[in-house]
Amino acid sequence: MAGKVLSLLPPFLLAAAGLCGLLLLCVPTRDVREPPALKYGIVLDAGSSHTSMFIYKWPADKENDTGIVGQHSSCDVRGGGISSYADNPSGAGQSLVECLDQALQDVPRERHAGTPLYLGATAGMRLLNLTSPEASAEVLTAVTRTLTQYPFDFRGARILSGQDEGVFGWVTANYLLENFIKYGWAGRWYRPRKGTLGAMDLGGASTQITFETASPAEDPADEVQLRLYGQQYRVYTHSFLCYGRDQVLKRLLASVLQTHSAHPCWPRGYSRQVLLRDVYGSPCTAALRPQAFDSSSRVSLAGSSNPALCRGLVQGLFNFSACPFSRCSFNGIFQPPVAGDFLAFSAFFYTVDFLSSVMGLPVATLQQLEAAVVTVCNQTWSELQARAPGEVAHLPSYCAGAMFVQQLLSTGYGFDERAFSRVTFQKKAGDTAVGWALGYMLNLTNMIPADPPGLRKGTDFNSWVVLLLLFAALLLAALVLLARQARSAKSPSAI
Ligand SMILES: *[C@@H]1O[C@H](CO)[C@@H](O)[C@H](O)[C@H]1NC(C)=O
Ligand SMILES: *[C@@H]1O[C@H](CO)[C@@H](O)[C@H](O)[C@H]1NC(C)=O
Ligand SMILES: *[C@@H]1O[C@H](CO)[C@@H](O)[C@H](O)[C@H]1NC(C)=O
Ligand SMILES: *[C@@H]1O[C@H](CO)[C@@H](O)[C@H](O)[C@H]1NC(C)=O
Ligand SMILES: *[C@@H]1O[C@H](CO)[C@@H](O)[C@H](O)[C@H]1NC(C)=O
Repeated sequence: MAGKVLSLLPPFLLAAAGLCGLLLLCVPTRDVREPPALKYGIVLDAGSSHTSMFIYKWPADKENDTGIVGQHSSCDVRGGGISSYADNPSGAGQSLVECLDQALQDVPRERHAGTPLYLGATAGMRLLNLTSPEASAEVLTAVTRTLTQYPFDFRGARILSGQDEGVFGWVTANYLLENFIKYGWAGRWYRPRKGTLGAMDLGGASTQITFETASPAEDPADEVQLRLYGQQYRVYTHSFLCYGRDQVLKRLLASVLQTHSAHPCWPRGYSRQVLLRDVYGSPCTAALRPQAFDSSSRVSLAGSSNPALCRGLVQGLFNFSACPFSRCSFNGIFQPPVAGDFLAFSAFFYTVDFLSSVMGLPVATLQQLEAAVVTVCNQTWSELQARAPGEVAHLPSYCAGAMFVQQLLSTGYGFDERAFSRVTFQKKAGDTAVGWALGYMLNLTNMIPADPPGLRKGTDFNSWVVLLLLFAALLLAALVLLARQARSAKSPSAI
């Protein structure tokens, strides 16, 4: 009897070992299902007209993966852009306090010290640095003083170049749409076949166009080579300073003031006092500035709702007369032919969205866009107000903005109907705003590696499967042994 029990012991032990192994293998998968610890990063996008704060988050264990950094929350700083505090730099720092206090709430306290904080300033500060380098340095010093008072890991306040701004917008768009690399169902990374998407950004003071191109760059200043996830990308990018929406409006105003006539892009029935300092204070209107003028004086100006004259005025912003390269966009700037799909965000989106959502006009083709612009520019002030009662502040300038967008895309960048049909106007991908801010953070935190992420997960998963099969085989063998012994123990009398 004791011998029989003893002979059953080895298969029992074997079965127990197999079962333990299986259980141990399955325990970690239960852990994975729990929400992983999150990391956070904060970027302050200090634009020319206003500053936005974006808080991003990602799973702590997936730092160098893709498509997993998303927007946690955001905050719009009240008041103007930091460049508007040139006469009162400390006000620039103070203006950020409300949003930074919100960040203290949005990011869990135990993560504060490990959360990188960046401030990037764009064309508004580029312009201020042109007119007054001292003032721009003082503004940056003031915001730095404020930012270092918070418990975050402050990594600096900088003015981005136009090239950085364009490239990081392109990186953001393609990262969010998983065009660089994608994590497949089989536990492996692969490169999607669809290729990358061009990016078009329209800010307050500059506009950027960025796209991957096979054409050789005739001007090295407009080409950037990037190595992301083991793939080399040749990217064309150009930033046009003074071609942002607000600066364009100022330049049009300055042109109108030269002739002292009505503003053809403003609606008939609308008029306002224009402060000359507002128009001529910008370096973008320097060429149109009279020799002598009283900067604090005001000029009364009325609108005339004249689409044809407005188009002529906007065309005056583009100079097609000289091109030192085989082909140019405008102002003698090299540009290869636009190719592939494009995402147009920020003020491109707001402008086209106004035409379609508020005005109810179709904008699917260039021809429709042109007709929509003419319709908006032909509205009187009371007609416009009746259409969009909630938007009074920007309403008088939608005609000029839309005329500019249409001219920039068609005659400026050279989109024809076919190319235009591949342009999408969108401000977000999922919950995340499209702009340069996310790409900037991904780059500065080294979250986009130059080499492919490898098969780290794949091998993990494979070895897990191998172990699982091994322990299952062990368990099966033990059970077979047990069954055989049990049978031989039952039938000793038969022998
Ligand atoms: C991500 O990459 C950086 C350098 O590229 C490295 O220092 C860091 O350890 C990596 N993080 C993870 C979680 O692999
Ligand atoms: C201001 O412009 C000068 C000249 O282009 C440049 O060297 C400097 O770095 C700029 N200042 C900042 C804060 O970026
Ligand atoms: C256009 O550019 C050319 C060459 O740079 C310049 O000579 C000309 O004055 C410009 N025209 C206008 C209207 O600005
Ligand atoms: C502008 O609107 C008027 C009616 O308000 C219309 O008669 C005219 O044809 C329109 N002009 C254009 C260019 O659409
Ligand atoms: C990203 O950061 C690295 C340094 O970490 C820099 O060399 C590289 O030029 C940056 N990429 C872009 C597109 O600016």
